Amino acid sequence: MRRVSRKLRFLLASGPTREPLDPVRYLSNYSTGTMGRHLADAIRKKGHRLTWVRSPEDAETARDLLSRLRRELPKHDVLVMASAVGDVRPAVVSAAKIKKGRLKTIRLVENPDVLRTLSKAKKASQVFVGFALESKNIQANAQAKLKKKKLEVILAQKVTNKTIPFGASRVEAAAYSADGRVKRFPGAAKQTVARYLIGQAESLVRQKYA
Ligand code: CTP
Repeated sequence: MRRVSRKLRFLLASGPTREPLDPVRYLSNYSTGTMGRHLADAIRKKGHRLTWVRSPEDAETARDLLSRLRRELPKHDVLVMASAVGDVRPAVVSAAKIKKGRLKTIRLVENPDVLRTLSKAKKASQVFVGFALESKNIQANAQAKLKKKKLEVILAQKVTNKTIPFGASRVEAAAYSADGRVKRFPGAAKQTVARYLIGQAESLVRQKYA
């Protein structure tokens, strides 16, 4: 059995993906990558090794992100999947700028679920931490995602037209663990939440090797 060294290897993905429509336009979302920066800080402060894939700079589309993470995953102990992945993309990417008269209807196709696809290649020794944005039925939806994507922990953040997590320093959130544990963060600093998640991932990897 491999001895777990004090330093773990973290693979972190964060930020918004972008799906091009033509050379001028793209589909994306309001993610700013703030939580990703706090997660990276927490990982580095604990002295762990970090591979950080930032979207859209390092991986623009959902498919770019999937192929990059697929390549990186085997070399890591923990995957922290904080990317805001676009669920759909334009069916056709036009090589030329589309004239405005032809923009009223855009055909969309579904993107791969990156986390779910990666979970199929997950090793028993690896720990996956995911995120969820929910407006309603937060606990039930988050726990369903936890199972479907084979995660050890999921952080559910509330999003409504009045509670906006994007770029905020505080969030309404709760962390659900596969062992049934629930930790609530009412109006907590993202930094606090990030530290908790990294601490949890760390102790879960060690438990797997205990
Ligand atoms: N995720 C992913 N690939 C996607 C969509 C989401 O890997 N195509 C990941 C996110 O990075 C996050 C988790 O899955 O860690 C949950 O994302 P979320 O947007 O809350 O859920 P979805 O699975 O997209 O479901 P829905 O949009 O229906 O709530």
